[in-house]
This record gives sequence, structure tokens and C-alpha cells, in this order.
Amino acid sequence: MTTTHSNTTSTIACLVIGMAGSGKTTLVQRLAAELSTRDLCTYLVNLDPAVIQIPYEPNVDIRDTLNYKDVQVEFQLGPNGAILTALNLFATRIDQLVELLESREEQVDTFVVDTPGQVEVFTWSSSGSIIAESIASSFPTILLYVVDTPRATKPLTFVSNMIYACSIMYRMQLPLVVVLNKKDLVSTEFAQQWLNDFDTFDEAMQQLEGDYSSNLARSMALAMEEFYRVISCCSISAATGEGMDELWNCIQKAAKEFSSFR
Ligand code: GTP
Repeated sequence: MTTTHSNTTSTIACLVIGMAGSGKTTLVQRLAAELSTRDLCTYLVNLDPAVIQIPYEPNVDIRDTLNYKDVQVEFQLGPNGAILTALNLFATRIDQLVELLESREEQVDTFVVDTPGQVEVFTWSSSGSIIAESIASSFPTILLYVVDTPRATKPLTFVSNMIYACSIMYRMQLPLVVVLNKKDLVSTEFAQQWLNDFDTFDEAMQQLEGDYSSNLARSMALAMEEFYRVISCCSISAATGEGMDELWNCIQKAAKEFSSFR
């Protein structure tokens, strides 16, 4: 963390969510590195109790107060149950985290929160909602929904991913940026086109003509147009740093829209 708040705008909080392996942790590291080159100060929070190694130095780490293995043994839980229980225990002290963040507000431009690998543990749990809501009650807060683009190149997979993102946005009631990650591995142009122009998505679906799921996906994609209209989308590679300018612009735009979501 650098030591001075560089601008006069409110400190933004970014909650980084996404499917397992989509690149959340790599993005947190990249965002912190990228913003520091602009003299912008980040404050990093790790909420994944099960992660073994992280490639950045978190300012707050759930692992400092909760031992995931102990939780698993004590409550006799499987891996996901233990992550959820650890998050529940952490949420009971969320006021302390918010107080800490508030005490850093003067120095920090962006709080970046890394969430557990399995997206639903954070987005569909009460503790995830409590944590998000508590942070959002103090700072303009946005969701960065990281997409593993190489795994979303098929129209059905893509629209399923977007339906999931949409459900999270409506559940959390926060502005959402779709971050098409891993553009160093695959061009993200197809996804940008599908988001901006239903006809191009429809053309891709026509190749699956007659299939029940293709008809359903086309109907769903049409229904998703309103969602596509309100979100921002950018293409990045968290690994190489490509596209980070665009991401930062999207973050700032989404933060400005925060009040209209409340
Ligand atoms: P979990 O929290 O464990 O679910 O993963 P995550 O979403 O935090 O993803 P993580 O950052 O651990 O990245 C998963 C894998 O994808 C790692 O091997 C990363 O090196 C790789 N990865 C992440 N971003 C990129 C990218 O932009 N390009 C490439 N080529 N690999 C990436």
C-alpha cells in the first residue's frame, strides 16, 4: 500500500468475484500494481480462508483470524462448508473491518476485496451479503465479475455465465463490471460482440438450430439485453496487464453509478 490518497473523489471499494480459477487473485495483484504506477493507493483484503499462497501482500487477511482447517475439523465440515462457516464467523465481526477501512479512507483510493474461489460461497450466502452491504454502506462499492473467457467461448456457456452475473447483480444491488479475463489466451472480441449486438449472438446460436437449449438460450439472451445495457464490460489479461486502462475507466464509471443502485 502506498501512503497518500491521490485524488479528491470518494474511496471506491471493488469486490472481486467470479467462478473458480477465473483469475480473481491474479487480478487483485495486477490492479494493485497497476494503480500504484499511477500513484493511486490500494488497500487489499483477502476473504478466501482456504487459499494457501497469494501473490500479493494483503492489508487484511481472513486467515489471520480464522484457521480454515481448524474450522473444518471443529465443525466436521467438507471443504466448501468450512469456507462458508469461516466467512460466517468473519461476518460476525464485519463492523471491525468497516471501522478499519474507514480509518484508512483518507490514505486509500481503492479497497480491493478478493473473495473465495467458489463464487456462490460469497454471492449466495448471508455472510457474503452482510459483508458486501456493510462495505457498501460506507463506500461506493462495485462488483468486478471476472470471466474465464477461454472457458466461455461457446454461446451456451457464455449466456449461462451472464445469467449468473445478472443474478448476482440483482441479489447484491451493486453496479457490476464484467471483466473478460485471459485475453492473452483467446480473443475476447466474440464476447464484446455478443454483449453489444444480439444479432451476432443469434447468428452463433443458429449453428445449434433445433436444439432445445439453443432456443432457450436465445430467449434468455433477449431477456438479458436490459442487463447488458446497465453493466460495463472490459477485456483484460490479469497475467500480462493488457486492458488495465479500460478496466480502471469502467471501475470509475461504475462507482459513479453506485447511488442509482441504492
Ligand atoms: P480461485 O480463487 O482458486 O478459484 O482462483 P482465482 O479466481 O483467484 O484465479 P487465480 O488468480 O488463482 O488464477 C487461476 C489460474 O489462471 C492461475 O494459474 C493464473 O496464473 C491463471 N490466470 C489468471 N489470469 C490469467 C490471465 O489473464 N492469463 C492467463 N494466461 N492466465 C491467467
